[in-house]
Amino acid sequence: MHVASVTRRYHFAAAHRLHTEHLSEEENWKVFGKCNNPNGHGHNYTLFVTVRGGIDAQTGRAVAFDTLDRTVQQTVLDRFDHQDLNHDPAFADRTTTGENLVLLIWDLLLAQLPPGQLEKIGLIETRDNYFEYAGPAAQSAAVGRTGG
Ligand code: NI
Repeated sequence: MHVASVTRRYHFAAAHRLHTEHLSEEENWKVFGKCNNPNGHGHNYTLFVTVRGGIDAQTGRAVAFDTLDRTVQQTVLDRFDHQDLNHDPAFADRTTTGENLVLLIWDLLLAQLPPGQLEKIGLIETRDNYFEYAGPAAQSAAVGRTGG
């Protein structure tokens, strides 16, 4: 059976502020720039979820889109859309950077999708910022704590 990769695109809007108490005010500004604005700000995130599967001889399909859509909706979009990421329990001890976000989304979906199906997470944060993660599991305690 031939294996193909399929990428689906999703959208969510969320607010955040990049700030860590491990750094001084000056250092925070230096590292995070405008994203350190004390009032926070929002992004219209574009999420790419890439999964793989064997191409079914009869349907020609490698992945059930409706199942994937439902999983992403319930696991990721319902959790983050129109929320303040800094208030999500998974970000209690880490910054809401695109890097940490793709890591978290990877772990959340890995726990819900069939074994071996998830291939890559891509996330557009701004016109010029794109983040990717393709495992291994970060196994963050926060994933278990919030029950996915
Ligand atoms: Ni930002």
